Amino acid sequence: MGLLVFLHIFLLSVIATAPWADAWGKHGHFMVCKIAEKYFTEKTAKAVLDLLPKSAEGELASVCSWADEIRFHYRWSSPLHYINTPNCTYKYSRDCFNDRGQEGMCVVGAINNYTEQLRSYGDSSDRYNLTESLMFLAHFVGDVHQPLHVGLEADEGGNTIIVHWYRRKTNLHHVWDTEIIDTATRDFYDDNINSMIESIQRNITNGWSDEIDHWENCHNKYKTCANDYAIESNHLACRYAYKDAEQDSTLADDYFFSRLPIVEERIAQAGVRLALILNRIFDGSVDDMIQSS
Ligand SMILES: *[C@@H]1O[C@H](CO)[C@@H](O)[C@H](O)[C@H]1NC(C)=O
Ligand SMILES: *[C@@H]1O[C@H](CO)[C@@H](O)[C@H](O)[C@H]1NC(C)=O
Ligand SMILES: *[C@@H]1O[C@H](CO)[C@@H](O)[C@H](O)[C@H]1NC(C)=O
Ligand SMILES: *[C@@H]1O[C@H](CO)[C@@H](O)[C@H](O)[C@H]1NC(C)=O
Ligand SMILES: [Zn+2]
Repeated sequence: MGLLVFLHIFLLSVIATAPWADAWGKHGHFMVCKIAEKYFTEKTAKAVLDLLPKSAEGELASVCSWADEIRFHYRWSSPLHYINTPNCTYKYSRDCFNDRGQEGMCVVGAINNYTEQLRSYGDSSDRYNLTESLMFLAHFVGDVHQPLHVGLEADEGGNTIIVHWYRRKTNLHHVWDTEIIDTATRDFYDDNINSMIESIQRNITNGWSDEIDHWENCHNKYKTCANDYAIESNHLACRYAYKDAEQDSTLADDYFFSRLPIVEERIAQAGVRLALILNRIFDGSVDDMIQSS
């Protein structure tokens, strides 16, 4: 084969197995942010537009994987993508640390941290780079909804559980970040990510409309409810992600069809809740915007 073709394939395979291709893959994060954008109030949309870097070309979704891309450059940010738990009971006070024992250095602490920073938007203080705060927040709200981002310490959230996804060798974490989504996009949506997003959106306004109230239920006005989202993820990891997925398992139709609805619902929840968090930050008057729209 030609050198260019070879290089292309080589690079693709490096990217596919690289550690930074971590966390809801690019597509998962893109979908979460695309869904969120639909529920921004005018004020929120304006503030987001103002904060986005030029490279985003006005679209939050295009920078929702930024936090993964800079993860090895900003090493300190790496633990902010997940939480490891000792067993199927997640507890903030016990589990939200980095490996140097600093409290709050996990995905829940990070969501609250960047929410707090963004509240200073419009003040004259420039202590933080709010463009980065926004890109971190949008990414981490996605991550905390990926069940295996609040998984077990022993297997690094499924990273050390090697499985076959149909015929291809991968690991359980990657199945939940990427494989389930990509298989669905390919098999049901003609490889068109936008049709999958539209289909999830239709379910938000139809199928799940009764549950939206519950998804948005967050009495914690000053912090976010990220801790509740982490508890949900930990339960889903133990009930569905790890179930029937041992070392060397082959995961195929049975696993795919039973877990896909969970992945779709988590993406929808993450999108709706990201909008809720941003609307509360930038447009204090809003709460039940999806209900009333
Ligand atoms: C989970 O692990 C923690 C820390 O090791 C322990 O204190 C707790 O009892 C365990 N819970 C269960 C249900 O095994
Ligand atoms: C909060 O944000 C700052 C600025 O990015 C960062 O240095 C710090 O580590 C963050 N802490 C948490 C818990 O996210
Ligand atoms: C804020 O962060 C973005 C992304 O890292 C960077 O491109 C930009 O130059 C930073 N702005 C300032 C004022 O440092
Ligand atoms: C939408 O909801 C239906 C009924 O619950 C479900 O079968 C379908 O898989 C869902 N589609 C998406 C994209 O969430
Ligand atoms: Zn991530």
